[in-house]
Amino acid sequence: MKKIIITGGAGFIGSHVIRRFVKKYPQYQIFNLDALTYAGNLENIADIQNEPNYTFIKGDIVNEDFINELFQKHQFDAVIHLAAESHVDRSITDPLSFVKTNVIGTMNLLNAAKQIWNNNFEGKRFYHVSTDEVYGTLGATGLFTETTPYAPNSPYSASKASSDHFVRAYGETYGLPYVITNCSNNYGPNHFPEKLIPLLINNIIQNKPLPVYGDGKYTRDWLFVKDHAVAIDLVFHEGINHETYNIGGFNEWQNIDLVKLLCQKMDEKLGKVSGTSEKLITYVKDRPGHDLRYAIDANKINKELGWSPSVTFEEGLEQTIDWYLENSEWLNNVTSGSYQKYYDNQYE
Ligand code: NAD
Ligand code: DAU
Repeated sequence: MKKIIITGGAGFIGSHVIRRFVKKYPQYQIFNLDALTYAGNLENIADIQNEPNYTFIKGDIVNEDFINELFQKHQFDAVIHLAAESHVDRSITDPLSFVKTNVIGTMNLLNAAKQIWNNNFEGKRFYHVSTDEVYGTLGATGLFTETTPYAPNSPYSASKASSDHFVRAYGETYGLPYVITNCSNNYGPNHFPEKLIPLLINNIIQNKPLPVYGDGKYTRDWLFVKDHAVAIDLVFHEGINHETYNIGGFNEWQNIDLVKLLCQKMDEKLGKVSGTSEKLITYVKDRPGHDLRYAIDANKINKELGWSPSVTFEEGLEQTIDWYLENSEWLNNVTSGSYQKYYDNQYE
């Protein structure tokens, strides 16, 4: 039985990855390591908690001794590393916590894996889940490819870029078998409502202003989270060691157009007069260092591994909105307590 440790499995993307692996691969023993920060939520994966091939471990990847002991104890065959501080705005107010989790935490996992594998890399794999933000920003044209030079602009993306470099260096220096994927913006169920799409859905439900940074002309490439989980499954099993793969939605939207589309869909769902939610749009001060445009060239993973998004943006948004409307308790739980304090500081 293969033992796989997945970090960050109580978070947004991690919960979809964990569910897919636990259900699809009963022959794997899946360990979910998560510190349960503000972004981690066991409710995200309540449906799989009693599966026989699933174990949850609460723990911090920054704690070197703990990580070393855990790896020694379980002798994992593979790591799928998603745990991270993931919100750009938080990285602007508290960059050091991003260095701790995203850089030091990744280093601890690399060292622990290197130690237990001890140069015997047969059947072993370190999968590092990264972001397109490491490439910096695009102008009006062009796409990020796997050879685009790294040029991170936020403390978040700098910390992710740094962790990518360490993973690569462990491959080159110690022969550690790794793969890295750099993905564009995800959306879908269980997305924490500090990020644009779930924040808008929550605010429309609450009849609160919809904050649009700057002129709203910033562009993102949106991918449904379950399609990202499919890509991770594929790269984990079929990706080539020491390779990186870009993952994207072929789905670029200027923020303001996305906000208007979401307003329209929410009006329909909530039975409101068309145009009601758009009146809540409020332009607010811009994010410092705000990247103008992200867009992924996902041809490598498409040609080499046969992956492409399966869900259209229309379908994905429908599913996402329905999920939030049907899971008001989840939304209430995550927006009570410290969320309100964060929100007031960010949008005061
Ligand atoms: P998230 O913030 O929703 O979840 C992060 C998870 O990591 C949480 O469960 C949290 O409790 C856990 N965690 C944080 N610090 C930890 C620590 N020190 N030790 C153990 N666990 C810790 O993040 P997400 O959006 O699901 O992103 C997951 C990964 O995918 C990240 O590495 C992120 O950089 C990457 N990524 C995200 C996107 C996106 O659009 N959300 C796109 C591309 C790549
Ligand atoms: O590209 C991948 C990245 O996508 C991931 O690596 C990050 O973890 C993830 O958070 C996401 O980063 P972004 O900064 O692109 O996502 P966010 O949802 O924070 O913002 C999306 C766009 O919307 C961005 O241009 C900023 C803008 N925005 C965001 C918020 C929260 C607003 O206009 N208003 C807002 O209130």
